[in-house]
Amino acid sequence: MLKKKYSCVKVDQQKDGITWVTFNRPEKRNAMSPTFHAEMMEIMTLLETDSDTKLVILTGEGVSYSAGQDLKEYFRETDGKPEVKAKASADSRWRSEKLWMYSKPTISMVNGFCIGGAFTHCICADFSVASDDAIFCLSEVNWGILPGGMVSKMVTDLFRQRDAMFYACTGRTFTGKEAANMGMVNYSVPKKNLRKETLKLAKELLEKNPNVLRATKHAIRATQDMSWRAAADYLNAKGAEIKIRDAARGHDAYAEGIRQFIDEKAYRPVFSPYVGAADGKTTEKGGKPRASAARKKKTPAKKKK
Ligand code: ACO
Repeated sequence: MLKKKYSCVKVDQQKDGITWVTFNRPEKRNAMSPTFHAEMMEIMTLLETDSDTKLVILTGEGVSYSAGQDLKEYFRETDGKPEVKAKASADSRWRSEKLWMYSKPTISMVNGFCIGGAFTHCICADFSVASDDAIFCLSEVNWGILPGGMVSKMVTDLFRQRDAMFYACTGRTFTGKEAANMGMVNYSVPKKNLRKETLKLAKELLEKNPNVLRATKHAIRATQDMSWRAAADYLNAKGAEIKIRDAARGHDAYAEGIRQFIDEKAYRPVFSPYVGAADGKTTEKGGKPRASAARKKKTPAKKKK
């Protein structure tokens, strides 16, 4: 449990394992200052091993998710101070390297303006849900830099080439709905439902075996730029990692999932995870027998001729 209070970020840890990390500079539209980055680096590092946190939701206080880098504090005030600039830049990697391969699932909940450098933590979170009317913009071209910090690469990987070029070069805004169509966020919802829909996704993820989920999200990330051969080896190793991590909690997802399906007919993987996936508690019996088990019992055995 994090006890410390921060000046630019609010951390709200719920009993169900969901931790809300809220960017809290609403008067500056949650622009990212060096202090903000230092706090976020510390928070995300601590939460990664905090046993009360199973999933992190990132969002912004007020009308903005994040207005990107703070033009005054991150850029102008660090000019001519290479050490300060380097520290701010290193701390700002909570959004990229750290989030990209984070040990726990992360969701960005885009509640309003998502500008420039904010694309990084919107995209590098594992999932993103936006309000329909959120406003996205690569504003860099309008004030004199290119979308750096890997944003140009990220939008090129994510968007169609035409869209990446268009929005990077015009700086035109697009809405949450358009962001969903372009693949920048998973989906958008009316603002009044944003929190509810984000929590619904979070709770769905929390029902999964966390070791399987972790390995799966890492596999999706890491194999993107691997050769076929390297990806095959990586995936084999990751599969083995699930077993090692599960064994540490006295569990075997693979054996348990198959047992509950084949022997107990307790669940259907198409519709839900096996019983006990989340907490690793192996049950004698899984859940309720599924329909096919009930049908089998009712069907009289055929008489031998
Ligand atoms: N850096 C520093 N201060 C900012 C930033 C920012 N990125 N964004 C907003 N603010 C500050 C404003 O200076 C203002 O502060 P002040 O009241 O002390 O003058 C306050 O936030 C409110 O800003 P407004 O412009 O009055 O708010 P409004 O809701 O009308 O507009 C908007 C919000 C659209 C986000 C506008 O502020 C804006 O265009 N901001 C710049 C966004 C930007 O270009 N970010 C950099 C992206 S590039 C990168 O991140 C690498």
